[in-house]
Amino acid sequence: MWTDPPTHRPLSGLVSQAFTPKTVARLRPRIADIAAELITGLPDGEFDIVDAVAYPLPLIVIVELLGVSPADRAFFKDCTDRSLGLRVDPALPPEELGRIVADATKEPRRVPAGRGPAPPGAPIRRPAQRPRGRRARRRAAPDTKVAALASMLLTAGYVTTTLLLGNVLLCLRDNPGVEQRLRTDRSLVPAAIEEVLRCRPPVSQAYRIADEDVPVAGEVVPANGFVTVSVLSANHDERQFGDPDRFDLHRDPNKHLAFGHGIHFCLGAPLARLEAGIALNRLFDELAELRVGDDITFHDAEFYGATRMTVSARRG
Ligand code: HEM
Repeated sequence: MWTDPPTHRPLSGLVSQAFTPKTVARLRPRIADIAAELITGLPDGEFDIVDAVAYPLPLIVIVELLGVSPADRAFFKDCTDRSLGLRVDPALPPEELGRIVADATKEPRRVPAGRGPAPPGAPIRRPAQRPRGRRARRRAAPDTKVAALASMLLTAGYVTTTLLLGNVLLCLRDNPGVEQRLRTDRSLVPAAIEEVLRCRPPVSQAYRIADEDVPVAGEVVPANGFVTVSVLSANHDERQFGDPDRFDLHRDPNKHLAFGHGIHFCLGAPLARLEAGIALNRLFDELAELRVGDDITFHDAEFYGATRMTVSARRG
């Protein structure tokens, strides 16, 4: 995500095969099993749905995909939470906070890639094996880059999808009638997830540095200028989306920017969509009623979504 061509291509090439819609579709049965395991065990009454479902589901999926052994799952979650500042006291002095975050980002690299039961085609196991042929070796990304990529995939593939699942429930809360329509017509679930991504994009900002002077809306972003782009605002642009504040299950086209745009377009989009669809369907199957309560903690950085959300549920 943080590299430009020509460095970007070999890194992207390493993982893109593992994330095509076709490859990801093969993960469906395993994701369905994980969702079933998490959701069938949910109690009647109040609980934190982020902790019970939205955190563990994408975490288990991504660590399995990366070939991390189940025994290291908690370690990886801990590193990710610290590296994103989720479990760091924000009152710490900035240099202390920076050190904890930097250490946590490096720590996952200590775990040898490919140690666990990686599925065939796991993105990290493949490059960990030395490519055959001199030319292939020359083109291959160095191990440090592979390790950094694994660490980045873990973060990109976990917290974002956690927040998406919570955002689905927030949209259902805010738009009475939608849940009932989805329960009776499950074919609308994919469109609902797209509309959630538009209205409440988990990654609400993107960052760029201008290569050259770029005129935008009457202003000039100077060369080397740092730009923060608001995905949230773009997704509510009335020139692109009629009645942008309305949650519309039949919005067509729905060209939201929740997964970015251009060469950095999210590689994990098919996986995130699949996980969210499976989880929502399973929640509808198991729970006759699911109400979001007032006890919600929102992520306080550039992510948009809940890190804790109490719901009250009644089993079907
Ligand atoms: C709802 C869930 C997700 C959202 C909202 C999301 C959002 C995004 C966005 C906005 C970008 C572009 C950032 C930019 O241009 O600066 C991006 C890139 C990326 N995402 Fe996701 N993502 C999600 C899930 C995932 C998953 C599950 C994975 C992997 C398992 C993943 C892997 C990546 C990678 C590797 C990139 C960088 C692609 C590149 O630079 O070539 N994402 N994502």
